[in-house]
Amino acid sequence: MRHLLGIEGWRRDELESLLDRAKAHLPGGPDATHLLRGKVVANLFFEDSTRTRTSFHMAAKGLGASVLNWTHTGSSVSKGETLLDTARNIEATGPVAIVMRHRSSGAPHLVAKHVKCAVINAGDGTHEHPSQALLDAFTLRQRWGALDGRTVLIVGDVLHSRVARSNLLCLKALGARVVVCAPPTLIPPGLEALGAEVTHNLDAQLPHADAVMCLRLQLERQEQAFLPSTREYARLFGLNVAREERMKADAVVMHPGPINRGVELAPAVADGPRSVILEQVSNGVAVRRAILEVCAA
Ligand code: NCD
Repeated sequence: MRHLLGIEGWRRDELESLLDRAKAHLPGGPDATHLLRGKVVANLFFEDSTRTRTSFHMAAKGLGASVLNWTHTGSSVSKGETLLDTARNIEATGPVAIVMRHRSSGAPHLVAKHVKCAVINAGDGTHEHPSQALLDAFTLRQRWGALDGRTVLIVGDVLHSRVARSNLLCLKALGARVVVCAPPTLIPPGLEALGAEVTHNLDAQLPHADAVMCLRLQLERQEQAFLPSTREYARLFGLNVAREERMKADAVVMHPGPINRGVELAPAVADGPRSVILEQVSNGVAVRRAILEVCAA
């Protein structure tokens, strides 16, 4: 049994062995339903999700497990039940793993201290989203083999993005160069200490990137005015067709979803030939099967 609370704490060889294992879980791979047959995986989602929740659901089913799908809406959270009471009650039904998403950074770490099953972080506040970073790394490894020496440009609302943080840690651990680009108000302090190069000039960096990862402008997390307007943001930091033409010939465009079409990413680019956005989603199921296998089987 092992928790996946973040990329932090996982060594390069452990990340690589998990990503190698995920290859066997791609569609057409050997039957894996014996790995968690008769077991239960509990999805505990205190925050909305489309991709991550359905992906963990499919992954658990692919390993033969039953899935308990708990969401905050319609639960006793509205009656004041605490996070730990909710988690302990779900644990009492006997899952081998709790996959949880919560708006507070550190919530899965707290739960992990109080339950005996594996805890998998499916996104905690602005902190980490390790399964997203792993499926992103898997998608890039599928294209490139190794990530060593490749440049990944992460563009967007890095301040509020748990995806950016986990990706920075994961990509650096796997040998890539990571450049982070956003307006100064959307760059958190301390990124350089984690190995990122920081820039505010997208056009200068675009021709050097092997992958451009666009992030959603997380307007729901922005309590203050971080930007003059979304139009101005799109003009300076949006990946549009004119910018796409300046990318390296074989460079790819990524996005964790959900996309604000026309803000951080133009529809023609999101749906264009460089986009690996739906590959990311497909690979997510295989990578999450490997996560459940490593952590809970
Ligand atoms: C992200 C999330 O919820 O952290 N989406 C995802 O899980 N693929 C990114 C976002 O909300 O912008």
